[in-house]
Amino acid sequence: MPTLPEPAGAHAATGNPDTTVTSTTSANSADDAVGSGAVTQASGVPRAGEVTERETLLEVRGLRKLFPVKRGIVIQHTVGQVRAVDGIDFSVGKGESLGLVGESGCGKSTTGRMLVRLLEPTDGQITFDGRDITHLGTHGMRPLRRELQIIFQDPYSALNPRHTVGKIVAMPMQLNGINPEGGIRKRVQELLEIVGLNPEHYNRYPHEFSGGQRQRIGIARALALRPKLIVADEPVSALDVSIQAQVINLLQELQREFGIAFVFIAHDLSVVRHFSQRVAVMYLGKIVEIATREQLYTAPQHPYTHALLSAVPEPDPDSGKRRDRILLSGDVPSPLNPPSGCRFHTRCWKATEICTTTEPPLESLTTAPADHQVACHHPEVRQVI
Ligand SMILES: Nc1ncnc2c1ncn2[C@@H]1O[C@H](COP(=O)(O)OP(=O)(O)OP(=O)(O)O)[C@@H](O)[C@H]1O
Ligand code: SF4
Ligand SMILES: [Mg+2]
Repeated sequence: MPTLPEPAGAHAATGNPDTTVTSTTSANSADDAVGSGAVTQASGVPRAGEVTERETLLEVRGLRKLFPVKRGIVIQHTVGQVRAVDGIDFSVGKGESLGLVGESGCGKSTTGRMLVRLLEPTDGQITFDGRDITHLGTHGMRPLRRELQIIFQDPYSALNPRHTVGKIVAMPMQLNGINPEGGIRKRVQELLEIVGLNPEHYNRYPHEFSGGQRQRIGIARALALRPKLIVADEPVSALDVSIQAQVINLLQELQREFGIAFVFIAHDLSVVRHFSQRVAVMYLGKIVEIATREQLYTAPQHPYTHALLSAVPEPDPDSGKRRDRILLSGDVPSPLNPPSGCRFHTRCWKATEICTTTEPPLESLTTAPADHQVACHHPEVRQVI
């Protein structure tokens, strides 16, 4: 793979793969934790969503986004609020990939858009590379735009159909006043090569490319300024299954090669499995479980994670193994009026009285690694896959 060009005047990238997460793992007996519900809040234990022994790039604390619901033809009144994201905590290390997973409408895209400041948070704090960016305006964000990029879900609508590929990929450099050595055209062609496109197709228009190729153009555009963090919002869900793996492999290579950190948003746990070092599971605006990939897939604790994992397809259908599918009853409740206590209690087969009245905090079981946190009154380690 060619090297990622350094944009002139840009900060040196600090996303060194060598600093990629090595999270603490204390001894963990999965069976010991069954049904214990024991949690630890001892001092020195990381706060919710936090991991240790790595350089933090992005830190999110108590992040909240409420969308007002208005009614009225002439005079509009606020009649309610969509609690799209309702107080979430997590962090992402330099060069690390965090998977953000959950059903439709749980607040993944809203979270992603707040991270890159396309949406103004209602509450909470976002710290990026040591800077509080929570309420930075267009002017304040300008120098950070090059370091924080987003790849959108739909490769068809994400690209301007009237612009050539060359113009699309060049635009971030032009907007940021970057004049790379050898000229912008040369840089764009290098970027096209990095993402596996023919550099000679510089003058083609988006409609002349397939869906997978268009997503590669979007990736080239995101790479143009050598970002430290890319929010990838379901970057493969609009693509054919056969193309999905190619695009995921490309993103994975870029992450390893250039030490770019990712927040990788997906509907299901199978997509993030091979890409994310850590995974956060969201339900109705909340993070209900966050852990290293190994922990989350081999020792999941939250009933909702169990249900999501049970839906992950068996890699070898001919193996004869049958996975017990956990079918959730009912629909996801409305974020306009989320259930009291644990938001999952209306669909949870383990719910008890306390679940309906008291919201469970995101904490670690005493028997689990400190960076494996779950929000449940009755957590249970259960091997699902
Ligand atoms: N601009 C908006 N105004 C009002 N409500 C909104 C707005 N944007 C999102 N929402 C609501 O916020 C909730 C979270 O939406 P979001 O797009 O973040 O979900 P998501 O997890 O990305 O879903 P999907 O997997 O379908 O993309 C949804 O109930 C959605 O209807
Ligand atoms: S807190 Fe109760 S309702 Fe919520 S996931 Fe745990 S057991 Fe189920
Ligand atoms: Mg979305």
